[in-house]
Amino acid sequence: MRTAIVGLGYVGLPLSLQFARSGVMVLGLDVDATKVDALNLGRSYIKHIPPEMVADAVRRGVFSASSDFSRVREADAVIICVPTPLNKNREPDLSFILETGRSMAPHLRKGTLVVLESTTYPGTTDEDLRKVLEVGSGLEAGKGFHLAFSPEREDPGNPDSKVALIPKIVGGYTPACLEKAVALYSQAIKTVVPVSSCRAAEAAKLLENTFRSVNIALVNELKIVYGAMAIDVWEVINAAKTKPFGFMPFYPGPGLGGHCIPIDPFYLTWKAREYGQHTRFIELAGEINTSMPLYVVHRVADALNDRQKAVRGSSILVLGLAYKPNVDDERESPSYVLMNLLKERGAEVAYHDPYVPVIKPTREHGHWAGTKSVAWNRETITAFDLVLIATNHACVNYQELANWTECIVDTRNAMGAIPTLPNQVWKA
Ligand SMILES: NC(=O)c1ccc[n+]([C@@H]2O[C@H](COP(=O)([O-])OP(=O)(O)OC[C@H]3O[C@@H](n4cnc5c(N)ncnc54)[C@H](O)[C@@H]3O)[C@@H](O)[C@H]2O)c1
Repeated sequence: MRTAIVGLGYVGLPLSLQFARSGVMVLGLDVDATKVDALNLGRSYIKHIPPEMVADAVRRGVFSASSDFSRVREADAVIICVPTPLNKNREPDLSFILETGRSMAPHLRKGTLVVLESTTYPGTTDEDLRKVLEVGSGLEAGKGFHLAFSPEREDPGNPDSKVALIPKIVGGYTPACLEKAVALYSQAIKTVVPVSSCRAAEAAKLLENTFRSVNIALVNELKIVYGAMAIDVWEVINAAKTKPFGFMPFYPGPGLGGHCIPIDPFYLTWKAREYGQHTRFIELAGEINTSMPLYVVHRVADALNDRQKAVRGSSILVLGLAYKPNVDDERESPSYVLMNLLKERGAEVAYHDPYVPVIKPTREHGHWAGTKSVAWNRETITAFDLVLIATNHACVNYQELANWTECIVDTRNAMGAIPTLPNQVWKA
């Protein structure tokens, strides 16, 4: 099946390359012309996707990119991987999905399969997207065109996570839609898991992400409780995970980040209200996880206080801006919240992140745009009163950090295996 993939970001680009690697002809569609141009020149704009992979697919003629949505006409299948953020009232923002639907609908051919991959609440595919596609194309879903939902399970930065080997859930609008969607993914993915409907597939993705959010909240709470008892939560988790059944380790941190875990569960919360239902676990986990940066800032204040210093006037380096280790993705990163809270309290704040050399303009944290990552050398790092480890990138030399800095607040246990002086490292 000739396949068009709409939205060439962290999800759409690796998926495109996996289809292309399997010999499927892929047309990538994106509204961002700079991405389209880069890809057609064989370049990558995502750090963990090597440019050679893009260049190879382009050279073999199995992948090309475009901003021309009328080219949907060339495709037998269209996969949509556009963003699903929350708006400023923390409600689902389906505008990217609906806009994509409107742009492609007039070019939909009879028999084409449309699959939504963006994470969203149950009902998006067979209600919201279906209506837009039907109105714009004049075709009926299940008869004129096929419709399905298949959630993405991308794990950026994990070298063991291979798109082809991650089982793919698929739900169709009709049995024929499901059959066609299973055939599409079977070309490129080893295990395809059919479910009874688009809604079951949408709900499965929300279960996966809510499961993470709730369990991360649990260990974040235990971090504070055990911390008060002078018990190291990291040691406790490492001990507990030796249990060969019935336990799965989750790790505390400075708060949630990224495009998924802080956002997706609230899609369900919003939709559940329509049915008079409350998502109490989701709300509580959200409350605990969003309070983490404030807890970390209190620990920073304690560590400085211990050295007769105040937050006001201290120079603080936030180490790691990306929301998770070894990636360049800083969307929703708690590092921004930490930097804002410290700045509000009068600290001079800088950051170091080898993956984010300069902060790009963002809607929420525009005031940091243009700020550059400070250099990593003894002279620069020693000058800070405190270094706050927010993300534990593997490429950072933590032994050097211990040699150069007197006061470290560590939210990731990055210093766990590094010899340090008493009172030099404060876990948070
Ligand atoms: N990043 C992850 O690890 C991950 C994992 C699983 C699921 N998801 C879900 O996948 C979806 C996409 O996430 P992402 O991380 O790839 O986002 P992203 O921001 O990296 O990429 C989205 C791409 O869509 C493009 N785009 C925006 N509007 C468009 C439009 N109207 N038409 C065409 N292209 C458009 C953007 O230019 C961008 O290139 C989201 O729903 C997200 O929740 C993400």
